[in-house]
Amino acid sequence: MATYARIQDIAQHIGEEVTLRGWLYNKTDKGKLRFLLVRDGTGTIQCVVFKGDVTPEAFEAATTVTQESSIYVTGIVREDKRAQGGYELSVTDFSVLQIAQDFPISPKEHGVDFLMNHRHLWLRSSKQWAIMRVRATIIRAIRNWLDDNGFLLVDTPILTPAACEGTSTLFETNYFGENAYLTQSGQLYNEADIMAFGKVYCFGPTFRAEKSKTRRHLTEFWMVEPEMAFADLEECMRVEEELVTHIMRTVLNERAQELEMLERDTTLLEKIVAPFPRISYDDALEIVRAAGETIEWGEDFGSPHETAVAKAFDKPVFVHHYPAQCKAFYMEEDPERPETSLSVDLLAPEGFGEIIGGGQRTASLELLERKLVEHKLPREAFEWYLDLRRYGSVPHSGFGLGVERTVSWVCGLSHIRQTIPFPRTLGRIYP
Ligand code: 4AD
Ligand code: MG
Repeated sequence: MATYARIQDIAQHIGEEVTLRGWLYNKTDKGKLRFLLVRDGTGTIQCVVFKGDVTPEAFEAATTVTQESSIYVTGIVREDKRAQGGYELSVTDFSVLQIAQDFPISPKEHGVDFLMNHRHLWLRSSKQWAIMRVRATIIRAIRNWLDDNGFLLVDTPILTPAACEGTSTLFETNYFGENAYLTQSGQLYNEADIMAFGKVYCFGPTFRAEKSKTRRHLTEFWMVEPEMAFADLEECMRVEEELVTHIMRTVLNERAQELEMLERDTTLLEKIVAPFPRISYDDALEIVRAAGETIEWGEDFGSPHETAVAKAFDKPVFVHHYPAQCKAFYMEEDPERPETSLSVDLLAPEGFGEIIGGGQRTASLELLERKLVEHKLPREAFEWYLDLRRYGSVPHSGFGLGVERTVSWVCGLSHIRQTIPFPRTLGRIYP
């Protein structure tokens, strides 16, 4: 009877004979030796086939096997300091389940379009493998931290009757003869949920019909959105920096191997520890202008502006008190300066820019009614949201952290399309 093992657990099997089930990643031949680099989803290991150790059929199979063929390989586990990963398999038997004919992705360079069209196969490559494992760890770190800090997971709907983040990026769909939209954010529902549960979060896919091609925008992305009753802007920032610190510590501890595969400079990530610097929009504007950008007070920051601000710090930086005119309708006004809002964005260093948006929400019915008019939003669709200001309104705050932006930053990627298994972008919905 074969003992099946997984490559990630191989250290527990030194000296034993085990069978791996996986795929051929790479191969080199040298006389009577075949060096097979085998992956099984949990890792890769070099398997050495010596002609004298296996049947002629097995040696023939190891000779003709092609890249990405599915295989069974049996052998004795050896510790080998020189081997990648520290272990090697001395093969005693080898067989092929299915021969892969001409796997399209070879170790040579491919264009981005080609790789995106073959995303279903590209995911098998070592860098993509490393990125998805970092992504999973980031998501787990987020959930663990929120679960352990008194936040209740409360799911929010994906089909919605109204916009949360402006009407220009809505995906419209037909809901039994009525217009409905794919959610841009679960925030408004979270605001109802906190009045029932205190501190909550939702975590799910969100949708924006982003009409521009950038390296930071997807049309479908995952967002975690914590929301807290009786929390002000200050408390919001404190929670954000603790969450981000926890994410970073977890990835550095648990995914060092993956970060190395991605050639990520982890010394920069080790500095990401709370507290993070806090500056106002007005101060940020000074930095942006000093960097030679022209921008009027009241305009939202674009990518070059965010980069200029973030460059001034080696930690993520909070920019708060944006002009009300460049933020969403639900932002609380600063009573001292009503032209500014109690909003805050968290900008990541190294040019990665905004990873979190949030702030304190409007608590007063009268102000919220006025904001709906100013933003030309249909009041009927927001009647339920207005109710939250009629029945026990409280100061409250929350934020949304974009998972893919965070993965991009942690992994040091030049484009967001590699941070999600099957990216949706302007002009791409295949595969
Ligand atoms: O700043 P945004 O638009 O804020 C909201 O949606 C709030 N309602 C969240 C809240 O307070 N509960 O989006 C939040 C984050 C951004 O900082 C960014 O990380 C990410 O979501 N994001 C995107 N990520 C990828 N592609 C896009 N098109 C994104 N748009 C926003
Ligand atoms: Mg934002």
